[in-house]
Amino acid sequence: MTLEDKIDKSRLPQHLAVIMDGNGRWAKKKGLFRSMGHEKGTKAVREIVETCAELPIPYLTLYAFSTENWNRPKLEVDTLMKLLVSSLKKEISTLMDNNIRLNAIGSLDSLPKKVHNELIDVMELTKSNTRMTLTLALSYGSREEITKTIKEISLKVKNNLISPSDIDESMINNHLYTHDLPDVDLLIRTSGEQRISNFLLWQIAYAELYFTETLWPDFRKEHLFDAILNYQNRERRFGKTSEQLNP
Ligand code: FPP
Repeated sequence: MTLEDKIDKSRLPQHLAVIMDGNGRWAKKKGLFRSMGHEKGTKAVREIVETCAELPIPYLTLYAFSTENWNRPKLEVDTLMKLLVSSLKKEISTLMDNNIRLNAIGSLDSLPKKVHNELIDVMELTKSNTRMTLTLALSYGSREEITKTIKEISLKVKNNLISPSDIDESMINNHLYTHDLPDVDLLIRTSGEQRISNFLLWQIAYAELYFTETLWPDFRKEHLFDAILNYQNRERRFGKTSEQLNP
């Protein structure tokens, strides 16, 4: 029996989010430039995207570039931006063949024009695809997203469009970049770090967290199956007791 056979396809996470960490350390271990780690990381992206589409996991969100990543050396930022453009161009057929819609979250206006334009083009091209929504978090930071949400809602209160008592969780949800995505069920972080790093803080309220030592460029579908099996062995109580869930 393969690892994949052990997965209960009726209880797959509906929304999987991944912090793809460890590209730099992968390269360093091999005596290569950090950019080689990112390049190898794109191969892992392709395998995981295809595997999620096949399972299927309807929503996959990848943390590709954080608001804090702008502080990296310019050369590395430029490399990552170039990789994004080339990957988007190269993977159009993968997205179309697998019926995947591309989506993006974050302050997209701060991306270089080339990346921004390519992103808009691929999102437009894939907008009618229905098997899976692949969301790239780009120039994304959860605190920025929540701050933006508070500003937008405050403005509505100020202009008497709503009153403070109208503000509820669903209104907040509707102002987040992720307004059209369900809550995250499973969050994976690779490379052994056990942090959230400003990723989807609101959306992971009840997510199961899975940390693995594997560096992102080495992450293969077997590692994903391990994470899903681990997820399926957990009891998600959402604040209730075990007895309430299993009367
Ligand atoms: C973290 O590793 C990874 C990133 C900051 C970028 C992730 C980008 C890719 C996998 C490639 C492009 C993505 C797409 C969607 C095509 P790190 O550099 O922080 O590694 P380290 O912690 O070992 O230094």
